[in-house]
Amino acid sequence: MLILGIESSCDETGAAIILGKSKSQEVRILSNIVASSLPLHSKSGGIIPENAAREQIKFIIPVINEALKKAKLNLKEIDSIAVTHGPGLIGSLLIGVETAKTIAYIYNKPIIPTNHLIGHIYANFIELDAKRYSLNSNIKFPAIGLIVSGGHTDLILIKKHGSITWLGGTRDDAAGEALDKIGRLLGLSYPGGPYIEKAAQDGNPKRFKFPSPLINSQDFDFSFSGLKTAALREISKTKMDKQAVADISISVQKAIIDVIVKKTLRAAREHNVKSILIGGGVAANQMLRKEFELKIENLELKISLFIPEKRLCTDNGAMIAAAAYFNNKPQDWQKIEANPSLYF
Ligand code: KG4
Ligand code: ZN
Repeated sequence: MLILGIESSCDETGAAIILGKSKSQEVRILSNIVASSLPLHSKSGGIIPENAAREQIKFIIPVINEALKKAKLNLKEIDSIAVTHGPGLIGSLLIGVETAKTIAYIYNKPIIPTNHLIGHIYANFIELDAKRYSLNSNIKFPAIGLIVSGGHTDLILIKKHGSITWLGGTRDDAAGEALDKIGRLLGLSYPGGPYIEKAAQDGNPKRFKFPSPLINSQDFDFSFSGLKTAALREISKTKMDKQAVADISISVQKAIIDVIVKKTLRAAREHNVKSILIGGGVAANQMLRKEFELKIENLELKISLFIPEKRLCTDNGAMIAAAAYFNNKPQDWQKIEANPSLYF
């Protein structure tokens, strides 16, 4: 089965062609093209929704054409179309959704509306050329899903494909959002996450201590907005040289990672799961990956950890096509609408 996946929920325009084989647990990427309006947003220090939507209009057709060209296919040869219908920015979402609907109508193809957050988790079902990042390459259910991105920090229980229960999430800022805001306070480029990770490599974790909010609460919720205030307090009373930026970066990163790892592993144990599937831009962070590995090993948990390779952690069309392949529920194109506040 050949699926064209279209992603346009925020500032990335993605189109991919994936091949799903009926007996396989994984899908193969034939092409995965991403155009990003990030350079534009780094100038303004954050995303201006209207600008993001304008860029989506510019990129959507060239990106789809490029994905088809790279896969050496044309639209007639595609079996179905998967498109992100939420959550995200309404202006950005609309571009992908309306384009997908138009293609479905003209070429008479089934269209599968797909939840962006579930897409992030299904990036783990994409076959890799290089060695898969996991302790065991076979994903088994039940699984805990952790979405850590710029807009979301959510824990979900996945009993099988199509059966998802939300366990908890952030009460205020998402993990990526907190990193981006603190990055700005530290004078780093946008988005802050990867720059904080880089600065943290030379940091001393003992100089500053930041709290990991809700770390001991019995729910599966998170809260990261207090961290920004705590960082601001330290920044305003410290001489901010390169070393101070590095020292604050490492402690902020640690405070976020500690609570994420602790709550995810508690959810995994309470629900007796076989796998943990992580997705979203923050999953690209090496310290997060290492902490998960270390804690799973120290606690001698018999749980397989899956994290997509770096380029599949951030927004892309392949993850949307993969989610659609395993949750194949086509809908009448006339009934599909962009839904910015879509949840689980
Ligand atoms: O999943 P994503 O591309 O978009 C959303 O759906 O939000 O995630 C973007 C977020 C940004 O907040 C960015 O700072 C963060 O992912 N991010 C990182 C890293 N790379 C991207 N955070 C920490 N470490 C990284 N290496
Ligand atoms: Zn995303």
